[in-house]
Amino acid sequence: MVVRHLPKVEAPVQFWYPAPNNHMEIKEIKLEELNPEKFIKEKIREISSIVGDGLAVNALSGGVDSSAVTILGHKALSDRLKTYFINNGLMREDEPQRVVSLFKELGIHVEMINTQKQFFDALKGLTDPEEKRETITEVFYRDVFGKIVKESGAKFLLQGTNYTDVEETVAGIKRQHNILGQLGIDTEKVYGYKVIEPLLQLRKTGVRKVAQTLGLPEEIYAKPPFPGPALATRVIGEVTPERIETVRKATKIVEEELSNTEAFQYFPILYEDKVTGIREGKRDYGFQIEVRCWDSKDVKTGSPTKLPYNTLERLAERITTEVPGVVSVTYNITKKPPSTIEAI
Ligand code: XMP
Repeated sequence: MVVRHLPKVEAPVQFWYPAPNNHMEIKEIKLEELNPEKFIKEKIREISSIVGDGLAVNALSGGVDSSAVTILGHKALSDRLKTYFINNGLMREDEPQRVVSLFKELGIHVEMINTQKQFFDALKGLTDPEEKRETITEVFYRDVFGKIVKESGAKFLLQGTNYTDVEETVAGIKRQHNILGQLGIDTEKVYGYKVIEPLLQLRKTGVRKVAQTLGLPEEIYAKPPFPGPALATRVIGEVTPERIETVRKATKIVEEELSNTEAFQYFPILYEDKVTGIREGKRDYGFQIEVRCWDSKDVKTGSPTKLPYNTLERLAERITTEVPGVVSVTYNITKKPPSTIEAI
């Protein structure tokens, strides 16, 4: 495994990868077994008893997992839970402001922390997918949250890791950004706080049910998944502010065009290679975007949605005219497996 030489932390991080089979100890709650009201009550009780009269923090991205945890945590701890939106520069257009204002409407104050420079500096020059994922994890948990926890005096971090995140990481398929304990990482020793994961026994469909029962709006509980490392998972090769901006613009178009489909997830990917194109009769050596749109029930397997051909044509037309520098758009037709949903 690639270990990036980040500045030394007191206790060296030991990554067990693929990890020991300790995810087997987590007992999955299948959708048909889930009683959301009972689950919510139990988790509120658990969080309260673990945190006691101490303080906790959590990061809200606006996805269904972190949103459900934010509500559970505030129900359990009230204002002894501080919620942050980590603006890492890798989010979709207007996403940071939108999430903060949506939670304000729900009565929860979310503090935005601007960390764009920290993330882009750390990602500079990295091209290996697992190395990029590991770097994002380290900057997030060690640098950003290490500091927040130190300054706030909190001893606990609440986060929305779910059963599938653990399963894929432990199987060694890809390192999901939020997997720590299951990889043998003692977060208290390494980062200075304990991690509480109330959703660990649920898959996404179960989390959606809990989120709906918690009273979150449909915009949140039915939101297509968006990975923790955000648009960085959609840039093949080096992640730079410019390359993120290209994929961000393409993401807006893909989401506008495909949000009316029943698809599980849809997004563009920016390839590393450039290709020869032609514009106004002149050679244009430009970027290549791949669009992916998935039908999937449990993310373990997936099939590309059979989109109408005119939708594909419209996507190509819009992306090549509205996203500067893009001369080619392709559509993924490979199933998972052997593909995975994201490209890195
Ligand atoms: P893959 O690419 O592994 O994706 O087939 C399965 C599902 O997981 C999402 N995904 C992530 N979610 N942190 C997350 O929170 C991650 O690091 C991560 N990587 C992939 C992906 O979008 C899909 O829904």
